[in-house]
Amino acid sequence: MTHLTTCVDAESVATRAAAEIARYLEAVRTERGVVHLALSGGTTPKRTFERLAAEQVQWEAVEVWFADERCVAPEDAESNYRLARETLIEPAGLPPERVHRMEGELGPEEGARNYAQALGKHVATRDRGLPVLDLVVLGIGPDGHVASLFPGAATLEAGEEELCLGVRDSPKPPPERITLTLGVLRVAARCLLLATGASKAHAVSAMLADPSNHVPASLLRRERLTVIADDAAAPTPI
Ligand code: 6PG
Repeated sequence: MTHLTTCVDAESVATRAAAEIARYLEAVRTERGVVHLALSGGTTPKRTFERLAAEQVQWEAVEVWFADERCVAPEDAESNYRLARETLIEPAGLPPERVHRMEGELGPEEGARNYAQALGKHVATRDRGLPVLDLVVLGIGPDGHVASLFPGAATLEAGEEELCLGVRDSPKPPPERITLTLGVLRVAARCLLLATGASKAHAVSAMLADPSNHVPASLLRRERLTVIADDAAAPTPI
């Protein structure tokens, strides 16, 4: 069963999400000594990352990954890595050797191939042969996409052994991206999906309805999914 929390506004979502992420990171660290955290880009998580940087987390135990990346240079304004570097990695003093950047500058295929190798090398826990990330922070598009998995895309039909894929036809600019597969998102121990603003209300409702390739977020493992939404993005009757 998906756990849904609604907050009055975007700032409250960021505060609640930062606290929840920090709590979970510390719980996993205490249990296992290392935590694999994957971040998304876009605009929604920016404030959450800023608040998270101020939380009491033992960052030396956290390995930072990415759910997706645009095929741009790491210093490009469009880079998800740059967003995380500026709002979380640098302010929290995360050691660079624990930050696993998707090399978007290499292009979709080579970047995805390299990332799949890094995931396989550094993430020890497996489920059906796939690396198990402890927590994946996701946004959601108005069309119900998560990471760079878009409605009806061939990436949703990837083979079960695939970890990371290149995208060349993203409907959300820029067109070329690297994304974790649905398989990796579904074996993750937890996904935390953040949604703010009225433009996301339909997607959030569709995500909670019947699973469909037309709404990639609806294909996430519901019993491992936590949604934190503001009132504007809260589910409305379909
Ligand atoms: C990306 C993101 C993407 C994002 C959603 C929501 O690279 O664009 O990873 O999946 O989370 O598109 O984006 P906003 O938060 O900007 O609405």
